[in-house]
Amino acid sequence: MAPMATDFGDDEGRVSQKLIDYHAARARGGVGLIIMEVTGIDALFPYMPRTVGLWSDDLIPGYRRLTDAVHAHGAMIFPQVAHPGPDSLCALLTGVEAVGPTAGIVNDITKTACRQLAADEIPPIVEQYARTARRAREAGCDGIELHAAHGYMLLGSFLSPVRNRRTDAYGGSTEGMMRFPLEVIRAVRAMVGPGFPIVLRISGDEMVAGGRTLRETLDIAPIFVEAGVDAFHVSSGAYPDLSWRVIPPTGTPFGLNVHLSAALKQVVDVPVMVVGRITDPRQAEDILCRGEADMTVMGRALLADPDLPVKAAEGRFDEIAPCIGCGLGCVVAREQGADTTCLVNPAVGREAETALVPADGPRKVLVAGGGPAGLMAAAVAAERGHSVDLFERTQTLGGLYTLASVAPGKQELTLVIQYLHGRAVRAGVRIHLGSEVTPQLLRRESPDVVIVATGSKPCGPVLPGMDRPNVLCARELVAGRIPLPTGRVLVAGGGTVGLEVAEIIAEAGRGDGRTSVRVVEAREEVGMDMFSEARTLLLERLEALGVELLPCTRLASISLGGAGFDWVVAALGAEPLDTLSAPAEEAGIEVRVVGDARQPRQAVAAIAEGFEAGRSI
Ligand SMILES: Cc1cc2nc3c(=O)[nH]c(=O)nc-3n(C[C@H](O)[C@H](O)[C@H](O)COP(=O)(O)O)c2cc1C
Repeated sequence: MAPMATDFGDDEGRVSQKLIDYHAARARGGVGLIIMEVTGIDALFPYMPRTVGLWSDDLIPGYRRLTDAVHAHGAMIFPQVAHPGPDSLCALLTGVEAVGPTAGIVNDITKTACRQLAADEIPPIVEQYARTARRAREAGCDGIELHAAHGYMLLGSFLSPVRNRRTDAYGGSTEGMMRFPLEVIRAVRAMVGPGFPIVLRISGDEMVAGGRTLRETLDIAPIFVEAGVDAFHVSSGAYPDLSWRVIPPTGTPFGLNVHLSAALKQVVDVPVMVVGRITDPRQAEDILCRGEADMTVMGRALLADPDLPVKAAEGRFDEIAPCIGCGLGCVVAREQGADTTCLVNPAVGREAETALVPADGPRKVLVAGGGPAGLMAAAVAAERGHSVDLFERTQTLGGLYTLASVAPGKQELTLVIQYLHGRAVRAGVRIHLGSEVTPQLLRRESPDVVIVATGSKPCGPVLPGMDRPNVLCARELVAGRIPLPTGRVLVAGGGTVGLEVAEIIAEAGRGDGRTSVRVVEAREEVGMDMFSEARTLLLERLEALGVELLPCTRLASISLGGAGFDWVVAALGAEPLDTLSAPAEEAGIEVRVVGDARQPRQAVAAIAEGFEAGRSI
């Protein structure tokens, strides 16, 4: 399991029960080796709020409880020991200035620049690494990982020519850039002795202008082995220019670093692990069989399903909750100050509290709507022993989420529906397609509980002129119910839907000599609701297609021939569609409204609400 910052520690950097339950669930699910998220080495330089640390001996007992819980299930655990360097939020959290190889590296979140570490400040940090490794061993950890990848954190920054512009002994040449990481490796080895594995996480190729190339990585890897590295953990990319390779979003290649681990294996004789968009255990097996890596590492796939390894071992591939790389739960939620979660697994970080318990007595549950919220609610209610019927008005499951999978590169979204459908069927949900729930049907079925998951409809005319015939609805276009417009097209609304529909139209009209697409958005940036890495890639594609983006622009009204557009595509959001709550309540039926029917939002919220509804009946 790959290191993933969860912020599940407490404010003092201690291991919490939440973190223990989270890792114990992955160990129980069959993970062989958990590489834990960043473990800080200095309280003054925290990575994020609530990032755990091992900067003093009194933090050891907490880690001991964690390692005991993981070992109880036969798994091993390595903390990822790291000084965050320029990527510490210290400027906000502890009031000290961040440090780096070179002054002026600006932190994305604090918007402040780091100062350059003086050469004589480095040996004490080397010592902190060694002491942290010693504490990890005392806490029962099975080894450690040193984070030197992605031109990120302190070691990664020293090792990357993009960030390390020093001219002293700690920079200036490949040898200079390796000096600090090598000193750390040697000091750790000297402190922990032999037989305590040290993994080095490294970008096989930074793939950015002026960054380290694969050729150079192959040259330096054997030197790290000589210094005491027992295994490599290979990813790619470098902050800030190529960060999408670090947490690759939906639509990026699966196993995107495998060629790098395969190359590294040719030059070192220690194990090489590979990470990055390895989501299907059969794909992982292929990588091993082809000899492209000695171990495969999964990150988000194990947030999505802690039981992935056990299910794979038992051949229950269809039962695995799929990671589609959406980043909505693991990254975006955290950025917005909410807890880490996962689109397909709302139980992340709440493993103990959400363990499904059988219902007191079976009740008759009717679910109206077969989108993600309805499917999850139905599955969970049935898993707990309720008698569940799900009615879907159309002939297909998935609701609006199916439309979301139409945009370029988003086809894998259908895996989510496939998974939720399978889960509902296995739990015994009776699914009725082509059946709309009406008040009559409610009376006839007379359920104990109705879950309203009937979704949303596009916003009504919010602007004067929106009822004109040259105004098209984004949803209708994406669904293929009306032909794509050509000519001068204005997309009103620059959220995910607006940007994606712009891409679809621009792509279809490419080279026809007459189609041009502009997107207007009232907020100061487009794609504000997106996972930033997906946004970066989408904006690059839109630029290549010549789509013009106009943030900070409010559409006042739409008039005939007004601003010179042939078509306006409305992507201005949605409003809830719920015609059932009132009649159900009138009939004395218990009602839960979930997903867009409650308030239109992204699927991560809808699925979480479906889960809660199913759990609480
Ligand atoms: C929420 C989140 C937090 C992460 N935190 C770390 C981290 O603390 N250290 C690190 O080296 N990589 C971190 N990563 C990168 C992952 O270890 C992994 O390389 C990446 O997610 C790609 O693998 P995957 O496609 O299997 O998820 C993080 C990724 C995610 C999604």
